[in-house]
Amino acid sequence: MLDEDPDLVSGSFQEEDQQEFTLRPQSFGEYIGQDDLKSNLQIFINSAKKRKEALDHVLLHGPPGLGKTTLANIIAKELNCSLRATSGPVIEKQGDLAAILTSLEPNQVLFIDEIHRINRVIEEVLYSAMEDYCLDIMIGQGPSARTIKLDLPRFTLVGATTRTGLLSTPLRERFGIPLHFDYYQPEDLKKIIVRSAGLLNTNIYDEAALAIARRSRGTPRIANRLLKRARDFADMKTDGVINSEIVEETLDRLGIDDIGLDRLDRTILRQMIEVHQGGPVGVSTIAATVAEEIDAIQEVVEPYLLQTGMIRRTPRGRMVTSKTYQHLGIPEPSK
Ligand SMILES: Nc1ncnc2c1ncn2[C@@H]1O[C@H](COP(=O)(O)OP(=O)(O)OP(=O)(O)O)[C@@H](O)[C@H]1O
Ligand SMILES: [Mg+2]
Repeated sequence: MLDEDPDLVSGSFQEEDQQEFTLRPQSFGEYIGQDDLKSNLQIFINSAKKRKEALDHVLLHGPPGLGKTTLANIIAKELNCSLRATSGPVIEKQGDLAAILTSLEPNQVLFIDEIHRINRVIEEVLYSAMEDYCLDIMIGQGPSARTIKLDLPRFTLVGATTRTGLLSTPLRERFGIPLHFDYYQPEDLKKIIVRSAGLLNTNIYDEAALAIARRSRGTPRIANRLLKRARDFADMKTDGVINSEIVEETLDRLGIDDIGLDRLDRTILRQMIEVHQGGPVGVSTIAATVAEEIDAIQEVVEPYLLQTGMIRRTPRGRMVTSKTYQHLGIPEPSK
């Protein structure tokens, strides 16, 4: 196998990127789940097309790996136009953004990933661009400085963010179509896994797909990753078909428990109990105790722990719940 050749390690990473690309749905038909969001969006797209106008600006928000980038690409495809993609942190100057905006074609889609990380000063360029389709550009300096107004073509801005809370209010309010992504239900993830297995030429039993689905944190990217790891184990064993036993073994080895928590999640919960008497404890303290980035804790770890009821938010910080004690098999202290 290629993967076992040490010289080809980087090659195998590329192979995985390539697979990620093939697994990415290309149309609404292939995009599984998020039904409400999808059906609303389809209506808005169809009516914009009918009126031959640009679609209103769309804000996609939700935790990582739920399909925001994928959906942005589908939106452009459904509008029969190309997608100009950039991201918040790479836009360094107002001029960078102005250059992108002035080069857009009419009704084109501009995708800004991680839009919450755009610099506030640069962001102001977007206000008039989004609302009035024009740019105010300063020419010269000192007393002779003047602004000129540049008209822009009608375009659709699609912004993606894992953290709407970090978006400034004027920016957030300029999106006519804010769409929130929820974690996927196991049934939908199962469909995604079965679809991906087909694309990867792997056979998987229904119940095995559901077992992966239940432990994928409601996230398609994780479901696909676990599927690939289960496939690695299946390849070495039996007939290469992924069955429930192989899924169990794979997930056990990866340290993923029956509700999808991994080692980091469990370490955090345990620390909250053992070091902080169950809380309340602030996110920065949690991040410091486990030597992780605060962002990673806030974007990835915390939302899922909240979702599973393992922690709850209070004004003074995060607290574990009775469920946490049960899940970790630690006796709950009486109050
Ligand atoms: N609805 C879906 N149906 C099928 N597969 C999906 C769906 N949503 C996402 N995926 C799969 O999950 C992968 C991750 O999705 P995507 O890159 O769009 O997530 P994202 O929300 O942009 O994440 P991030 O916040 O990290 O940028 C995709 O490559 C795709 O294979
Ligand atoms: Mg993305």
